Amino acid sequence: MPGIVIVGVQWGDEGKGKATDLLGDRTDWVVKFNGGNNAGHTVVIGDEKYALHLLPSGILSPGVTPVIGNGVVVDLEVLFEELDALNARGIDTSKLKISANAHIITHYHRTLDKVQERFLGKRQIGTTGRGIGPTYADKINRMGIRMQDLFDESILRQKVEGALDQKNHLLLKLFNRRAITVDEVVEDLLSYAERVRPMVGDTGLLLDRALDRDEVVVFEGGQATMLDVDHGTYPFVTSSTATAAGAASGSGVGPGRLDRIVGIVKAYTTRVGAGPFPTELFDADGDGNWLRTTGHEFGTTTGRDRRVGWYDAPITRYATRVNGITDLVLTKLDVLTGRATIPVCVAYDVNGERCDEVPVSQSDFHHAKPILEEFPGWTEDISGCRTFEELPQNAQDYVLALERISGTRISVIGVGPARDAVIVREDLV
Ligand code: GDP
Ligand code: IMO
Ligand code: MG
Repeated sequence: MPGIVIVGVQWGDEGKGKATDLLGDRTDWVVKFNGGNNAGHTVVIGDEKYALHLLPSGILSPGVTPVIGNGVVVDLEVLFEELDALNARGIDTSKLKISANAHIITHYHRTLDKVQERFLGKRQIGTTGRGIGPTYADKINRMGIRMQDLFDESILRQKVEGALDQKNHLLLKLFNRRAITVDEVVEDLLSYAERVRPMVGDTGLLLDRALDRDEVVVFEGGQATMLDVDHGTYPFVTSSTATAAGAASGSGVGPGRLDRIVGIVKAYTTRVGAGPFPTELFDADGDGNWLRTTGHEFGTTTGRDRRVGWYDAPITRYATRVNGITDLVLTKLDVLTGRATIPVCVAYDVNGERCDEVPVSQSDFHHAKPILEEFPGWTEDISGCRTFEELPQNAQDYVLALERISGTRISVIGVGPARDAVIVREDLV
């Protein structure tokens, strides 16, 4: 089983970083295949807590070679901030490889992300403001800057000139901002070139050879299915392919190399930013507040409160379909401890009709009301459980019910933030 994909099932922050880290001692390579520093992965190892944004979570495991794939967008300042911070804490990051084809987030992408959001007013997406969307837009528009451009100053200058010809019109005339000069962008990018040069290469080739040798490669997805640019709640999505298909295109290996697709799903649901969310709890003092506080649902990247709601089985069924999920990792089961009953969304009511699937029409999804079923809760602390049988009967029944209505086996259960706070029912590697 050498090619294992990790994807988020819901709207992000399911615990993908912890799941990737968990596989660390049986993994040779971890490649991040989409997104950039819009991600925020918290990994807890012993007493140490790490918040990673751009770097793959595998960087924390000494035996792993971490890779930033071609599908990622790289902010060079953030890259070196994260590397320096890890080095200062004694983590060896010297094995990091970066695809020569990964696109670079520049000053003008960050600026455009912020001013475009402001311009949208009430229609705001609530982006992370890190320049992600504008960088992917330039990539698709064939006017992006890639890692390999850093090593040819005249090409770099030409590309930046081409991009700024257009961007400065937008900044000056539409958004009423100052123009950005070619020199300031080129100088900034070149200041990182020599330090990054040894890391940059043909990462698709390296991964292909590793898979030929039967080494274990984990493809770490950022964001999640419902934030995927094609399959998510468009336009309230990120700008990359966060689903399993992106693992191949975003890392440069063929889809046939992907053997196991692991979906990470929370025992309830959260979302950051705008867009539809059928099971959302709006009450400031009731279940919504309880879930946010008990689950510590505050963003790792922007510090925003995460919107919270109950588990949504149609979303898991949908994610299983569009990703081809073979295994689920159910995280944060411990957060639900102490409730008399736990509501779960089994289907939607869309304009008076029962709908078992995620509606294809965005308006229908906006109007979907959850059809909830209540399951009995438990009060015992489960954070020390390491086998399924140690869980209280009602917790076991809750997991089995989610497995049944989601239609996919739950192979691993998270019972706490720590690295070892898991119940492994079936090994992922
Ligand atoms: P990611 O973006 O998918 O990697 O997830 P985040 O790191 O943004 O958010 C998940 C949060 O839940 C982190 O703070 C993790 O430490 C924490 N976490 C992960 N799994 C569990 C679990 O099983 N139980 C609890 N209580 N916390 C968990
Ligand atoms: P991880 O990997 C949760 C959301 C933003 C916004 C939308 C678009 O930690 O799960 P962008 O800056 O990407 O253009 O913003 O996507 N978003 C995330 N939400 N977790 C993430 O990453 C996210 N990455 C982007 O809040 O709604
Ligand atoms: Mg996160």
